[in-house]
Amino acid sequence: MLSPFNFMAQQQQVQSLLSNSKALKKWNNGGRAHRRLVLGLGTSLLVQFVGMAGTSGVGGRSFTAFASIKGGPSVEEILKNVEWPEQCPFKEEDFQRFDESPDSLFYESPRFVTHIDDPAIGALTKYYSKVFPPSNTPGVSVLDMCSSWVSHFPPGYKQERIVGLGMNEDELKKNPVLTEYVVQDLNVNPKLPFEDNSFDVIANVVSVDYLTKPLDVFKEMCRILKPGGLAIMSFSNRCFWTKAISIWTSTGDADHVLIVGSYFHYAGGFEPPQGVDISPNPGRSDPMYVVYSRKLPTA
Ligand SMILES: C[S@@+](CC[C@H](N)C(=O)[O-])C[C@H]1O[C@@H](n2cnc3c(N)ncnc32)[C@H](O)[C@@H]1O
Repeated sequence: MLSPFNFMAQQQQVQSLLSNSKALKKWNNGGRAHRRLVLGLGTSLLVQFVGMAGTSGVGGRSFTAFASIKGGPSVEEILKNVEWPEQCPFKEEDFQRFDESPDSLFYESPRFVTHIDDPAIGALTKYYSKVFPPSNTPGVSVLDMCSSWVSHFPPGYKQERIVGLGMNEDELKKNPVLTEYVVQDLNVNPKLPFEDNSFDVIANVVSVDYLTKPLDVFKEMCRILKPGGLAIMSFSNRCFWTKAISIWTSTGDADHVLIVGSYFHYAGGFEPPQGVDISPNPGRSDPMYVVYSRKLPTA
């Protein structure tokens, strides 16, 4: 079983990836790093990198429950001009979890809870209202991937087809925005059960960190999106840590932006990914980050 407390091997693999973000490089060189503790497990991968770079600024420990990107590059900057290594740097062990029992067991009972606080939900809903196709647009289809009983879409949002894909049928049945749902374990079967070029938008809220075959899933997302279709991955700094992949639980928010960006890049067929910080009250409520991309018109 993977020990979540032994980070060094996996960190070395991704350090090469992190070192290719110009924004992160600049931050490291500036020596203005903030030390963070991610979910109580260890220092951020990014900070490890900073530490190895021998900068000052890493000595003063300020462990916070809510990891912050404060003092570092903005989320928008992190994904600008990344020189992605030619080969995807991830290894199999990066996608292992502390709890490798079947996800169907973990999600067997419904959880009618919200996983982020109300201000973070409000920020995501507001963001969706800006980027989603208008409600009731003929022919528009939306997929909420890793869905539950709530999708956080704008109030009254409707389309001909809004599909939820998740693990718990009772939750999906109760989701008022969905016109249909599919129960599927993407870690067992990453093939999305939909036609090519059939969705305008794919959303995924606070769940990208549970995917153990993210590149397969992102390739599938590209296949089922219409050309120009939008994929929106949003996440905060919380998770069911036993079920999140090790590369996520051993890293911090800035790293997560880069990791999700790398999924789009290495899956192929997407425009360069972009990051947005939609955190509603930095430091006072859950942070909320979006990494998004559109399917290339030619893919
Ligand atoms: C933290 S919850 C987030 C639910 C919802 N997106 C929200 O914002 O409230 C994680 C979700 O990911 C889904 N999920 C986790 N592992 C999955 C897997 N292997 N395949 C498909 N969905 C998965 C679960 O069904 C669950 O609804």
